[in-house]
Amino acid sequence: MSRFLVTAALPYANGPLHIGHLAGCFIPSDIFVRYLRMKGEDVLFICGSDEHGVPITLKARNENVSPQVVVDRYHELMKKAFAGFGISFDHYSRTTAKIHHETASSFFRELYDKKVFSEETTEQYYDEEARQFLADRYITGTCPRCGFEKAFGDQCENCGSSLSPSELKSPKSTLSGKPPVRKQTKNWFLPLDKYQEKIQDWIGSHKEDWKSNVFGQCMSWLNEGLKPRAMTRDLDWGVPVPVDGADGKVLYVWFDAPIGYISSTKEFFEQGGNKNGSRITHHGSRWEDYWKDDHTRLVHFIGKDNIVFHCIIFPAMLMAHGGYVLPENVPANEFLNLEGDKISTSRKWAVWLHEYLEEFPGREDELRYVLTSVAPETKDSEFTWKDYQARVNNELVAILGNFVNRTMVLTHKYYNGTVPQHGELQKADHDLIHTIRNSKLKIGLLLDQYKFREAQFELMNLARAGNKYLADTEPWKLVKTDGERVQTIMYMALECTAYLAGLTEPFLPHCSKRLHAMLNSESVGWKQMDGRLLKPGHLIGTATLLFEKVEDDIINNQIEKLKNTAMEQSNGSPPGGGDETQGAIKPEVTFDDFSKMDIRVATILEAERVPKTDKLLKLLLDVGSEKRTVVSGIAEFYAPEDIIGRQVSYLANLAPRKIRGTESAGMVLMAEDRDGSLVFVSPERETGNGGTVS
Ligand code: MF3
Ligand code: ZN
Repeated sequence: MSRFLVTAALPYANGPLHIGHLAGCFIPSDIFVRYLRMKGEDVLFICGSDEHGVPITLKARNENVSPQVVVDRYHELMKKAFAGFGISFDHYSRTTAKIHHETASSFFRELYDKKVFSEETTEQYYDEEARQFLADRYITGTCPRCGFEKAFGDQCENCGSSLSPSELKSPKSTLSGKPPVRKQTKNWFLPLDKYQEKIQDWIGSHKEDWKSNVFGQCMSWLNEGLKPRAMTRDLDWGVPVPVDGADGKVLYVWFDAPIGYISSTKEFFEQGGNKNGSRITHHGSRWEDYWKDDHTRLVHFIGKDNIVFHCIIFPAMLMAHGGYVLPENVPANEFLNLEGDKISTSRKWAVWLHEYLEEFPGREDELRYVLTSVAPETKDSEFTWKDYQARVNNELVAILGNFVNRTMVLTHKYYNGTVPQHGELQKADHDLIHTIRNSKLKIGLLLDQYKFREAQFELMNLARAGNKYLADTEPWKLVKTDGERVQTIMYMALECTAYLAGLTEPFLPHCSKRLHAMLNSESVGWKQMDGRLLKPGHLIGTATLLFEKVEDDIINNQIEKLKNTAMEQSNGSPPGGGDETQGAIKPEVTFDDFSKMDIRVATILEAERVPKTDKLLKLLLDVGSEKRTVVSGIAEFYAPEDIIGRQVSYLANLAPRKIRGTESAGMVLMAEDRDGSLVFVSPERETGNGGTVS
């Protein structure tokens, strides 16, 4: 038996979770952990909310609330979403917890006392208007690598380069929008260069067992040569730097967040080690058993943007501290795209988990299934609603659901729900047994290698084999002539169903529960699935619907909803989080392109809020020749009563579309101010409605 400590990347508490989080990190880690638990391994599954960092403070500033309000909101929302999808953490903590502040603080202090850090006074950007140093995302500018004009101080989201603020060309403060000045400040650096060799040796030893995308990224960092990296920031939100003369400074979020794994483990044991379901598989009794025992197998599940932090920086911190285990593996996934575009929290291009749970109650496993089927394990992949529908209908319903349903119905019909006694086995039966054994074996081997997508494919193949078995043996025909043979067939089909109940548990825990309820059986261990699972004479339960078909209108609604959000975004609402400033000029267009747009003057006759939205106003426009309804994302900036009679300009020939149930025919033009607020683009003096703007 091994001792596993499995972590899933602590999600930032600056927005709700979306399908990219599930596919990239939380579903694979949950499958892995559930599998280990079934094998009876000693395993602890740890996570929590990452509640520090600049994006959170920017969001709070934007909403005019304290950062604590923001993180409280998303911490709760995320926790609920995880529970909804059955992500079975043993413990979910948060980095604003006292125990985390203490743990991170003393970790830093330990390194400080060991003289690990180099203390450096450097010139950092400073916003004189806001009187604040501009760390990370407080600063934007042009990327020195790719020329992207909206790169952040810590990273360019266009080319993925990791940057430092001083590298940006034409830097601007995201607070005032002005170019910053340079001002001296003292910070503490982790001399990664000194750990280069040690890390190289260690990562080099994992060439064979780490995923090639992970290994490759590490090598490219190492080849560039590691450089000292600041572990403190001039900010007021975070873990205060526990050193004299460090007022107004906090630990770098990537210093404190991974320590969150440690503090979450501590908190778990402080709270007595809760019980996760029926299978309690953590046998250690102190947090040190998992972090400081050489036999621990530490596995970090993350997305690819986290690789350097988990494979280089955090390990360097652990090495510098001493006494901690290093990760055995870091199975990072690539990114999941959505309907042809990058998932983006700020652009609201996402399928949000809390919304899915509300709109698709009881269908959590359907999403788990699809996301594992398209998991970005080796390269970026894509989720589309059409594909979701196809996979649910053609695989879960038509294969797995259908097989189970036929087996249940026939067993009740022929034997009043009792598992029949089987007779002598024939070739078809031996073949099915062989397939069952083989599936289980393959699934285990694939899961050991973090190949979740293929493992789930094997699982579905077993259901396929079950279906084929029934189709080939045709018990519904034979029942009239050879009752004895039918008993064997049904016994085999039930046994196959019992295996499916067991083997679905890591992937589709809700489905597995439903199957066990139908079979009136207990959940099984991995080893148990080497022998027979059902005894003749056992009374099974009633058949319930395992999966329900997804109809077209459901899918169309979801696609429509996505498009509308994208539209609302472009029609007014500022990008959330305030982490974007004025964009670059778009690519050149011809005069012809421009003249396709029919921009005209209109007067607002009526205005009202669109119910249940924060951002939308429904406007009735006098456009000269007629009246038109237009939905506009400006409710945060204008009260309806204040804008009646206002003249505005609007795009008259934009294809009409339904936004939250209201047909919108056109788009009112708005200018965006630096703080993201919007103002009308109006004629300079009263002009005739319907007049063209060119
Ligand atoms: N919050 C980070 C993200 O979402 C992940 C932090 S992982 C930890 O990308 F190791 F730092 F905790
Ligand atoms: Zn770039």
